[in-house]
Amino acid sequence: MFALASISLMAVGCARLDMQDQPKYRPQRPSDFFADGRSERQPVEGTVARGEMYEDTAFYEGKDAAGKDIAEFPIAVDKAVIQRGQNRYEIYCAPCHGRIGNGLGMIVRRGFKQPPSYHIDRLRNAPVGHFFDVITNGYGAMLNYAAQVQPRDRWAIIAYIRALEYAENANINDLPAEARARIPATSAPPTAAQANEPLTPADPDFEDFPNKPATPSGVPGAHGAGAAESNQPERQ
Ligand code: HEC
Repeated sequence: MFALASISLMAVGCARLDMQDQPKYRPQRPSDFFADGRSERQPVEGTVARGEMYEDTAFYEGKDAAGKDIAEFPIAVDKAVIQRGQNRYEIYCAPCHGRIGNGLGMIVRRGFKQPPSYHIDRLRNAPVGHFFDVITNGYGAMLNYAAQVQPRDRWAIIAYIRALEYAENANINDLPAEARARIPATSAPPTAAQANEPLTPADPDFEDFPNKPATPSGVPGAHGAGAAESNQPERQ
Protein backbone atom coordinates (compact mmCIF):
# COMPACT_ATOMS: atom_id res chain seq x y z
CA MET A 1 0.00 0.00 0.00
CA PHE A 2 2.73 2.42 1.02
CA ALA A 3 4.75 1.42 -2.03
CA LEU A 4 1.84 2.06 -4.35
CA ALA A 5 1.23 5.50 -2.86
CA SER A 6 4.85 6.54 -3.29
CA ILE A 7 4.88 5.34 -6.92
CA SER A 8 1.84 7.45 -7.71
CA LEU A 9 3.43 10.43 -5.91
CA MET A 10 6.53 9.98 -8.06
CA ALA A 11 4.38 9.90 -11.16
CA VAL A 12 2.79 13.21 -10.16
CA GLY A 13 6.19 14.67 -9.43
CA CYS A 14 7.50 13.79 -12.90
CA ALA A 15 4.52 15.13 -14.83
CA ARG A 16 5.42 18.77 -14.19
CA LEU A 17 3.34 21.05 -16.40
CA ASP A 18 5.57 23.90 -17.41
CA MET A 19 4.33 26.69 -19.68
CA GLN A 20 6.72 25.73 -22.46
CA ASP A 21 5.34 22.20 -22.56
CA GLN A 22 1.68 23.02 -22.79
CA PRO A 23 -0.28 21.69 -25.78
CA LYS A 24 -0.26 24.24 -28.58
CA TYR A 25 -0.56 24.53 -32.33
CA ARG A 26 1.94 26.09 -34.66
CA PRO A 27 0.40 28.43 -37.28
CA GLN A 28 -1.23 26.66 -40.24
CA ARG A 29 -0.74 23.17 -38.74
CA PRO A 30 -3.67 20.74 -39.05
CA SER A 31 -5.73 19.66 -36.07
CA ASP A 32 -7.92 16.63 -35.53
CA PHE A 33 -9.66 18.38 -32.65
CA PHE A 34 -11.87 20.60 -34.85
CA ALA A 35 -14.28 19.12 -37.36
CA ASP A 36 -12.85 21.13 -40.27
CA GLY A 37 -9.34 19.81 -39.59
CA ARG A 38 -7.76 23.25 -39.11
CA SER A 39 -6.15 24.53 -35.95
CA GLU A 40 -7.09 28.12 -36.86
CA ARG A 41 -10.67 29.25 -36.32
CA GLN A 42 -12.48 31.36 -38.92
CA PRO A 43 -13.37 34.87 -37.74
CA VAL A 44 -16.96 35.23 -36.67
CA GLU A 45 -19.10 36.43 -39.56
CA GLY A 46 -19.12 40.22 -39.76
CA THR A 47 -15.76 40.60 -38.00
CA VAL A 48 -13.95 43.76 -39.07
CA ALA A 49 -10.20 43.94 -38.53
CA ARG A 50 -8.90 47.18 -37.10
CA GLY A 51 -8.34 49.73 -39.88
CA GLU A 52 -10.23 47.65 -42.44
CA MET A 53 -13.67 49.15 -42.27
CA TYR A 54 -14.48 49.92 -45.91
CA GLU A 55 -18.01 51.16 -45.41
CA ASP A 56 -17.61 54.29 -47.54
CA THR A 57 -18.42 52.67 -50.90
CA ALA A 58 -18.08 55.99 -52.74
CA PHE A 59 -14.46 56.37 -51.60
CA TYR A 60 -13.40 52.71 -51.70
CA GLU A 61 -15.35 51.48 -54.73
CA GLY A 62 -16.50 54.55 -56.62
CA LYS A 63 -20.09 53.31 -56.32
CA ASP A 64 -23.21 54.73 -54.73
CA ALA A 65 -25.53 52.72 -52.48
CA ALA A 66 -27.26 51.27 -55.54
CA GLY A 67 -23.93 50.06 -56.98
CA LYS A 68 -23.83 52.70 -59.72
CA ASP A 69 -20.63 54.57 -60.68
CA ILE A 70 -20.54 57.88 -58.83
CA ALA A 71 -20.31 61.09 -60.84
CA GLU A 72 -18.87 63.34 -58.11
CA PHE A 73 -15.44 63.06 -56.50
CA PRO A 74 -15.71 61.68 -52.94
CA ILE A 75 -12.70 63.81 -51.91
CA ALA A 76 -12.08 67.53 -52.14
CA VAL A 77 -10.04 68.23 -55.28
CA ASP A 78 -7.52 71.04 -55.08
CA LYS A 79 -4.25 71.85 -56.80
CA ALA A 80 -2.22 69.64 -54.45
CA VAL A 81 -4.46 66.65 -55.24
CA ILE A 82 -4.15 67.25 -58.99
CA GLN A 83 -0.37 67.52 -58.72
CA ARG A 84 -0.23 64.30 -56.71
CA GLY A 85 -2.42 62.79 -59.42
CA GLN A 86 -0.04 63.94 -62.12
CA ASN A 87 2.88 62.38 -60.26
CA ARG A 88 1.08 59.02 -59.90
CA TYR A 89 -0.37 59.18 -63.42
CA GLU A 90 3.04 59.65 -64.98
CA ILE A 91 4.37 56.62 -63.11
CA TYR A 92 1.48 54.20 -63.48
CA CYS A 93 -0.59 55.27 -66.48
CA ALA A 94 1.48 57.38 -68.88
CA PRO A 95 3.62 54.44 -70.03
CA CYS A 96 0.55 53.20 -71.93
CA HIS A 97 -1.88 56.12 -71.98
CA GLY A 98 0.72 58.75 -72.84
CA ARG A 99 1.55 61.93 -70.96
CA ILE A 100 -1.42 63.75 -72.45
CA GLY A 101 -3.79 60.79 -72.29
CA ASN A 102 -3.96 60.18 -76.04
CA GLY A 103 -3.25 56.46 -75.64
CA LEU A 104 0.15 56.62 -77.33
CA GLY A 105 2.45 55.83 -74.44
CA MET A 106 5.85 54.25 -74.88
CA ILE A 107 4.63 50.69 -74.26
CA VAL A 108 1.95 51.14 -76.92
CA ARG A 109 4.52 52.51 -79.33
CA ARG A 110 6.45 49.28 -78.67
CA GLY A 111 3.43 47.17 -79.63
CA PHE A 112 1.04 46.86 -76.65
CA LYS A 113 -2.67 47.23 -77.36
CA GLN A 114 -3.54 50.90 -77.84
CA PRO A 115 -6.01 52.18 -75.23
CA PRO A 116 -8.69 54.66 -76.24
CA SER A 117 -7.79 58.33 -75.85
CA TYR A 118 -9.24 59.91 -72.70
CA HIS A 119 -10.44 62.70 -74.96
CA ILE A 120 -13.11 60.76 -76.81
CA ASP A 121 -16.65 61.79 -75.89
CA ARG A 122 -17.49 58.49 -74.23
CA LEU A 123 -14.67 58.82 -71.70
CA ARG A 124 -15.05 62.57 -71.27
CA ASN A 125 -18.64 61.94 -70.29
CA ALA A 126 -17.94 58.83 -68.23
CA PRO A 127 -18.54 59.29 -64.50
CA VAL A 128 -15.47 59.43 -62.25
CA GLY A 129 -16.61 56.14 -60.72
CA HIS A 130 -15.95 54.42 -64.06
CA PHE A 131 -12.29 55.44 -63.97
CA PHE A 132 -12.06 54.26 -60.37
CA ASP A 133 -13.52 50.93 -61.42
CA VAL A 134 -11.02 50.55 -64.27
CA ILE A 135 -8.04 51.27 -61.98
CA THR A 136 -9.40 48.97 -59.27
CA ASN A 137 -10.54 46.03 -61.38
CA GLY A 138 -8.79 46.42 -64.72
CA TYR A 139 -10.52 46.66 -68.08
CA GLY A 140 -10.11 44.29 -71.02
CA ALA A 141 -6.41 44.03 -71.81
CA MET A 142 -5.52 46.40 -68.96
CA LEU A 143 -4.62 44.83 -65.64
CA ASN A 144 -5.79 46.43 -62.43
CA TYR A 145 -3.63 48.81 -60.40
CA ALA A 146 -5.33 48.18 -57.06
CA ALA A 147 -2.16 46.93 -55.40
CA GLN A 148 0.07 49.73 -56.68
CA VAL A 149 -2.30 52.68 -56.31
CA GLN A 150 -4.21 53.21 -53.06
CA PRO A 151 -7.78 54.59 -53.20
CA ARG A 152 -6.86 58.19 -52.39
CA ASP A 153 -4.23 58.19 -55.13
CA ARG A 154 -6.73 56.65 -57.57
CA TRP A 155 -8.95 59.67 -57.01
CA ALA A 156 -5.97 61.98 -57.43
CA ILE A 157 -5.12 60.31 -60.75
CA ILE A 158 -8.73 60.68 -61.91
CA ALA A 159 -8.65 64.38 -60.97
CA TYR A 160 -5.53 64.74 -63.13
CA ILE A 161 -7.19 62.86 -66.03
CA ARG A 162 -10.10 65.31 -65.76
CA ALA A 163 -7.56 68.16 -65.93
CA LEU A 164 -5.99 66.59 -69.04
CA GLU A 165 -9.41 66.26 -70.64
CA TYR A 166 -10.26 69.81 -69.75
CA ALA A 167 -6.97 71.10 -71.16
CA GLU A 168 -7.37 69.15 -74.41
CA ASN A 169 -10.80 70.64 -75.01
CA ALA A 170 -10.23 74.08 -73.58
CA ASN A 171 -11.34 77.13 -75.45
CA ILE A 172 -9.13 80.18 -75.58
CA ASN A 173 -11.91 82.13 -73.92
CA ASP A 174 -11.55 79.88 -70.84
CA LEU A 175 -8.23 81.62 -70.14
CA PRO A 176 -8.05 84.80 -68.11
CA ALA A 177 -7.42 87.82 -70.33
CA GLU A 178 -3.84 88.30 -69.22
CA ALA A 179 -2.97 84.66 -70.06
CA ARG A 180 -4.75 84.98 -73.42
CA ALA A 181 -2.59 87.95 -74.25
CA ARG A 182 0.53 85.79 -74.03
CA ILE A 183 -0.65 83.45 -76.80
CA PRO A 184 0.46 84.52 -80.29
CA ALA A 185 -2.56 85.20 -82.47
CA THR A 186 -1.44 83.00 -85.36
CA SER A 187 -0.22 79.95 -83.47
CA ALA A 188 -1.42 76.68 -84.97
CA PRO A 189 -2.83 74.14 -82.54
CA PRO A 190 0.04 72.07 -81.13
CA THR A 191 0.57 68.58 -82.45
CA ALA A 192 0.64 65.77 -79.96
CA ALA A 193 4.40 65.72 -80.27
CA GLN A 194 4.60 69.40 -79.44
CA ALA A 195 2.22 68.97 -76.58
CA ASN A 196 4.55 66.34 -75.19
CA GLU A 197 7.52 68.69 -75.28
CA PRO A 198 9.01 69.54 -71.92
CA LEU A 199 8.26 72.95 -70.47
CA THR A 200 11.05 75.50 -70.54
CA PRO A 201 11.85 77.91 -67.71
CA ALA A 202 10.23 80.60 -69.86
CA ASP A 203 6.85 78.89 -69.55
CA PRO A 204 4.70 80.49 -66.87
CA ASP A 205 3.82 77.06 -65.43
CA PHE A 206 7.43 75.92 -65.19
CA GLU A 207 7.61 76.42 -61.42
CA ASP A 208 4.65 74.09 -60.96
CA PHE A 209 5.83 71.42 -63.38
CA PRO A 210 9.63 71.55 -63.48
CA ASN A 211 11.34 69.18 -65.88
CA LYS A 212 14.62 67.50 -65.29
CA PRO A 213 16.71 66.11 -68.13
CA ALA A 214 15.97 62.40 -68.33
CA THR A 215 16.25 60.85 -71.73
CA PRO A 216 19.62 59.13 -72.10
CA SER A 217 21.41 60.62 -75.08
CA GLY A 218 21.40 58.50 -78.21
CA VAL A 219 18.31 56.53 -77.14
CA PRO A 220 15.38 58.63 -78.33
CA GLY A 221 12.51 58.49 -75.90
CA ALA A 222 13.99 55.61 -73.91
CA HIS A 223 13.73 55.37 -70.18
CA GLY A 224 17.13 54.80 -68.66
CA ALA A 225 18.97 55.01 -65.40
CA GLY A 226 17.79 58.06 -63.53
CA ALA A 227 14.50 58.18 -65.38
CA ALA A 228 12.64 57.23 -62.21
CA GLU A 229 13.37 60.60 -60.64
CA SER A 230 12.71 62.46 -63.85
CA ASN A 231 9.67 64.44 -64.72
CA GLN A 232 10.43 65.03 -68.35
CA PRO A 233 7.88 64.03 -70.97
CA GLU A 234 8.96 61.64 -73.66
CA ARG A 235 9.43 62.92 -77.18
CA GLN A 236 7.36 61.32 -79.88
C1 HEC B 1 0.24 48.39 -69.60
C2 HEC B 1 -0.52 49.40 -70.25
C3 HEC B 1 -1.52 50.20 -69.44
C4 HEC B 1 -1.32 50.89 -68.26
C5 HEC B 1 -0.03 51.03 -67.50
C6 HEC B 1 -2.58 51.49 -67.93
N1 HEC B 1 -3.53 51.18 -68.87
FE1 HEC B 1 -5.43 51.83 -68.92
N2 HEC B 1 -5.77 50.76 -70.62
C7 HEC B 1 -4.82 50.01 -71.26
C8 HEC B 1 -5.44 49.35 -72.40
C9 HEC B 1 -4.73 48.44 -73.40
C10 HEC B 1 -6.79 49.73 -72.40
C11 HEC B 1 -7.87 49.25 -73.34
C12 HEC B 1 -8.31 47.91 -72.82
C13 HEC B 1 -9.26 47.18 -73.72
O1 HEC B 1 -10.16 47.83 -74.28
O2 HEC B 1 -9.11 45.95 -73.85
C14 HEC B 1 -6.95 50.64 -71.27
C15 HEC B 1 -8.13 51.27 -70.96
C16 HEC B 1 -8.26 52.23 -69.98
C17 HEC B 1 -9.44 53.05 -69.78
C18 HEC B 1 -10.67 53.07 -70.67
C19 HEC B 1 -11.75 52.15 -70.23
C20 HEC B 1 -12.93 52.28 -71.17
O3 HEC B 1 -14.05 52.52 -70.67
O4 HEC B 1 -12.74 52.16 -72.39
C21 HEC B 1 -9.19 53.85 -68.71
C22 HEC B 1 -10.12 54.89 -68.12
C23 HEC B 1 -7.87 53.54 -68.22
N3 HEC B 1 -7.34 52.56 -69.02
C24 HEC B 1 -7.26 54.15 -67.16
C25 HEC B 1 -5.96 53.84 -66.74
C26 HEC B 1 -5.34 54.47 -65.58
C27 HEC B 1 -5.98 55.54 -64.73
C28 HEC B 1 -4.09 53.94 -65.48
C29 HEC B 1 -3.04 54.22 -64.42
C30 HEC B 1 -3.42 53.92 -63.06
C31 HEC B 1 -3.94 52.99 -66.56
N4 HEC B 1 -5.09 52.96 -67.28
C32 HEC B 1 -2.78 52.26 -66.81
C33 HEC B 1 -3.50 49.89 -70.94
C34 HEC B 1 -2.91 50.40 -69.81
